Amino acid sequence: AIERTFSIIKPDAVAKNLVGAIYQRFEAAGLKVVAAKMVHLDKAKAEGFYAEHSERPFFNALVEFMTSGPVMVSVLEGENAVLRHREIMGATNPADALAGTLRADYADSIDENAVHGSDAPASAAREIAYFFSDEELCPRTR
Ligand code: CMP
Repeated sequence: AIERTFSIIKPDAVAKNLVGAIYQRFEAAGLKVVAAKMVHLDKAKAEGFYAEHSERPFFNALVEFMTSGPVMVSVLEGENAVLRHREIMGATNPADALAGTLRADYADSIDENAVHGSDAPASAAREIAYFFSDEELCPRTR
C-alpha cells in the first residue's frame, strides 16, 4: 500500500552537506518528498519528539545532539514507505548497518547516526503531525 513516513536528516549529516545525497537515495528508491523543511530544534521540541526515550540513559545526549544544529525534516510517500525508508537507513548503530545503507556510509556512531525514520505507520502519523500541518503536505499526483 502507499504509505507516508517521517524522516529527519540529523545535525551531523546536515553539517557534512549530505542533504542532497540523502534525498538522492530516497528518490532513487521511489520515495517521493511530499513535505520538507529545515528547522533548528529547541530543547522542548526535541524532548517532546523523543518522549518515549525519556527514561533511557542516552536521552540527555540525544536531545543535546539533536539541538546542536539544523535538521531537515521530511515526509516521504511511496509503496511500503515506512519499511522501505528503514531499509535505506540501515541499523540504528552504524556498526551493524548493512553496506550501502545511509548509516553505513554516513554515520559516525549510534549517537550521531545521520538519519531518523519512523518505525511503524502509527508512529509515522504521530511524527508527521508533530512537525507538519495538513496544509504543508503536498499530494503527489505524478
Ligand atoms: P533515532 O531513530 O533517532 O531514535 C533515538 C535515537 O537515540 C537513535 O536514533 C540513536 O541515534 C540514539 N541512541 C543512542 N543510543 C541508543 C541506544 N542504545 N539504542 C537506541 N538508540 C540509541
